[in-house]
Amino acid sequence: MYRSNESSKTLAQATAVAPCTTHPTTHDHEREFLFTEQDFERIRKLIYERAGIALSPIKRDMVYSRLARRLRATGIRTFGEYVRYVEQGDPAELEAFTNSLTTNLTSFFREEHHFPLLQEFLRPRMQKGNINIWCSASSTGEEPYSIAMAVAELYGFIPNHVKIIASDLDTNVLDKARQGIYSPDRLAKVPEELLRKYFLRGHGMPEGHAQVRPDLQALLTFRQINLLDATWPMRGPFDAIFCRNVMIYFDKPTQYRILEKFVPFMAPDGLLFAGHSESFHHAADLFKLRGKTVYALTENAMQRACRSERR
Ligand SMILES: C[S@@+](CC[C@H](N)C(=O)[O-])C[C@H]1O[C@@H](n2cnc3c(N)ncnc32)[C@H](O)[C@@H]1O
Repeated sequence: MYRSNESSKTLAQATAVAPCTTHPTTHDHEREFLFTEQDFERIRKLIYERAGIALSPIKRDMVYSRLARRLRATGIRTFGEYVRYVEQGDPAELEAFTNSLTTNLTSFFREEHHFPLLQEFLRPRMQKGNINIWCSASSTGEEPYSIAMAVAELYGFIPNHVKIIASDLDTNVLDKARQGIYSPDRLAKVPEELLRKYFLRGHGMPEGHAQVRPDLQALLTFRQINLLDATWPMRGPFDAIFCRNVMIYFDKPTQYRILEKFVPFMAPDGLLFAGHSESFHHAADLFKLRGKTVYALTENAMQRACRSERR
């Protein structure tokens, strides 16, 4: 079980990188909306409780610029008033608030060493029935479509018994992922041959854009899933879980809770793919390193995964 002093820290202590000032920043007087230190602290608390995102105190300007759009859209004149509105729990605004504060940076074949590794892992399992993969912070779709292309390349055709769940908390990015239309700068990371095989051009799309072919897209099911939620509305086991570049936004106790929840969702011999700057040493009782930023269950965790597989 992960134990750390951090679990007893407050959010402010856990994410503090510089002393918190209660004074306005130098630019505050030039700003369109009143935004106090207290407003910022309430926003940090709200997004931490809602999404697990531990915003560091240096993100104050980022928060201002992202949420200023929401104030304009709602016609609210100060951050204090806006935070009250969100705290009152209007579901649509809570969603817009959350969507505004997530960071969705992604690209096709990001951390490309994972894709041959996934293929090697799946190769001996190709004769087995269904293969289930969960991409748990799928952002605008580049990651789950890269997984789908890697899988199709392995099989030599689009194997419809491979199911990929692509989930994210942010509903805006899920909509973009569902559309599967990408601009030339996004497509630049897709090898030419794969572009020709798995994308369609034209059909009223803007110049240079391309859309994922429907038969490749059919491998994916999109879901809104908050990794922080107590239960996830789906069934495992998953042969592979991709959880890349999202844990960095969470503190260690939150990461541990999520990793612990992954265990019964994993096939006993499954793999967990992490982001390049994420390491799960603090969950060494659950996951062991199998390769560069790739994890497998420990013996103990495997027993638990086996028990939940039998249920
Ligand atoms: C930086 S992107 C990473 C995207 C992709 N996994 C990659 O590595 O390219 C992080 C994603 O995590 C999502 N996210 C943040 N908090 C989340 C939560 N509590 N549950 C599920 N997804 C979350 C964000 O909406 C965002 O799309």
